[in-house]
Amino acid sequence: MDELNDNGRSPVSGETRLAAVIGDPVRHSLSPCLMNAAFAETGLDWTCVAMEVPEGQASGALDGMRAMGIGGLSVTMPHKAAVASGVDDLTAGARALGAVNCIVPDGDRLVGHNTDGAGFLDGLRHDSGLDVTGLRCVVLGAGGAARAVVHALGLAGAADVAVANRTAGRALRVAELAGAAGHALEPSSVGGAVAGADLVVNATSLGMAGSEAGHPVDPDLVAAGAVVVDLIYHPAQSAWLAALRGRGVEAHNGLSMLVHQAAHAFTLWTGVEAPVAAMDAAARAALARR
Ligand code: ATR
Repeated sequence: MDELNDNGRSPVSGETRLAAVIGDPVRHSLSPCLMNAAFAETGLDWTCVAMEVPEGQASGALDGMRAMGIGGLSVTMPHKAAVASGVDDLTAGARALGAVNCIVPDGDRLVGHNTDGAGFLDGLRHDSGLDVTGLRCVVLGAGGAARAVVHALGLAGAADVAVANRTAGRALRVAELAGAAGHALEPSSVGGAVAGADLVVNATSLGMAGSEAGHPVDPDLVAAGAVVVDLIYHPAQSAWLAALRGRGVEAHNGLSMLVHQAAHAFTLWTGVEAPVAAMDAAARAALARR
């Protein structure tokens, strides 16, 4: 069983533990690539596959996980909320967000975690060394990614977490996740808030491959000394990031959040420190092939 296959990995055996990502669509997911790179780097006899689970069938997938003793699941759209209702226990973060992106078996119970917020903060620290404590932050968007970021910024002690969204009602609900620091922005106050922000995060889908083109906010509004994160990582540089970098603003894409949320999931499943550099390299190589 010591022979390596064409991928340089040990072949799957009767001992191999299985992890999977569930979602729909899921074939484009980078999770198997990230996790298998981590298993190879650490020498763990695990493998990760993608499983297409149609909307409405998350509870069946959870039953399958229990019955088959799957070692860990990553959860992507459209199942994050349904899984939060279907697992046996939730961490405080997953409960606050009403969304699970990582399931960890604990005996015969399934525990739902959400590692997106920690992944965002770790990715930011990795890319820019920034600690958000006391910072003025603007988050553009109010979907699942925005919810995780706003919640994480509030917990981490940001001084101000302002949320702007096309659909104003969603921004109000998301801003509450940051506690006392959180508030929603009226359209008329977005420009001033962005100009005064230390950290600006795009969590809208504007500029993502396959989505609408356009800037989530005028890049010229961002202060020269601010740090920007565009959660989009495909393309690696959105038009908005290009415009900001053209002005000399420190601006990062969302790849580090993706890698670091997966790194947390890896450690929760295996108890082993995640090989972040190997995961990052695997994600970059996979994206370069697209
Ligand atoms: P995710 O869960 O990945 O964060 P999502 O829930 O689809 O994705 O959220 C997408 C975000 O992009 C939302 O904030 C959406 O705004 P609405 O709440 O008004 O729908 C935002 N978005 C998408 N297309 C947009 C557009 N053309 N202009 C502005 N915002 C847009």
